[in-house]
Amino acid sequence: MKSPNAIEFESELKLGLRNMWYPICQSAHVKDRPLGLRRLGSDIVVWRDSRGKVHTHDDRCLHRGAKLSLGRILNDMLRCAYHGWCYDSSGQCIAIPTSHTAQVKLAPRLRLESFETQERAGLVWVFFAEDRSAAAPPLVIPEELEDPAYSGFICEAEWKASWMLILENLADPMHGPFLHGQSLTLSRGTLEDEMRTTRHPDGFLVEREGQRGVNFDWAEFYCRDSMWVRLDIPLPFGPKGILRILCFATPIDEDRSLVYFLRYRNLSGWKRAYWRFLYKTFWERQHSKVIDEDRRILESQRGAQCRIAEHLSNSDRGVTELRKLLREKIACRAPQ
Ligand code: FES
Ligand SMILES: [Fe+2]
Repeated sequence: MKSPNAIEFESELKLGLRNMWYPICQSAHVKDRPLGLRRLGSDIVVWRDSRGKVHTHDDRCLHRGAKLSLGRILNDMLRCAYHGWCYDSSGQCIAIPTSHTAQVKLAPRLRLESFETQERAGLVWVFFAEDRSAAAPPLVIPEELEDPAYSGFICEAEWKASWMLILENLADPMHGPFLHGQSLTLSRGTLEDEMRTTRHPDGFLVEREGQRGVNFDWAEFYCRDSMWVRLDIPLPFGPKGILRILCFATPIDEDRSLVYFLRYRNLSGWKRAYWRFLYKTFWERQHSKVIDEDRRILESQRGAQCRIAEHLSNSDRGVTELRKLLREKIACRAPQ
């Protein structure tokens, strides 16, 4: 019999919460060919029209189900490689070159499922709706990403771990001085502390009570129609100060995720130029070592199985708060 304490991932969470915006790829990766991606357990095709606007649809031709991402973009249409059926940017089938009758009678009745898509801060964002006919809410992203006072870089990775484990790792500042204790950025501070969580209308804050500005000491979760985490880590030099990290996790499948760490600094003049130079020549590699430590741990947790044998302590207050928040979010969406 399953232990009463056993917690598995809620089925609504395994492939990501619906009715949310997620970053699905970098803008720079959508070029002049259709791009096939798997996100939230679905195959989608992303393409750019001649005005530069990005569109997203189900990656399945309505003729015989071939992947449209194997086709090409022709005169602002998505053209299937198999028999040449064409779709416009709204997903409407507008050409069936193999049959005049089908072109006249069938094509007008066929439309690909489409997703609301936006490009912001160098990323392509898609709204994964439960009900595709409903309009998407405005996309809210961290203000640093569009504030000219900040300058930053995108770090993208694919991990063999559930997006839930990625979020839980971000809600757990106490792992900083242990897992990353050999790093240049996260080796300082005490190894024991009390944790505090504070709810706010858009999410919650988890923080160490005993220290600030020393290690990964706090994380702020935003969870409304998009979900992201804000945190700071101190840089000891180059130039010394705070590195702000905006984190996003997008499920690929139940046990694979796309992660983004957008690293931003509020610097101007020579300090900005110096940091940008050092980032490319030095810091990027150092930060990669740190997130690779996270990746190895999360991939070792074997998905939801880790929850069956877990024993949470006071230092896991952020993890508990995150789970509570997500359960509330699921509950308020459930049909009454
Ligand atoms: S499967 Fe796409 S045109 Fe035939
Ligand atoms: Fe970490």
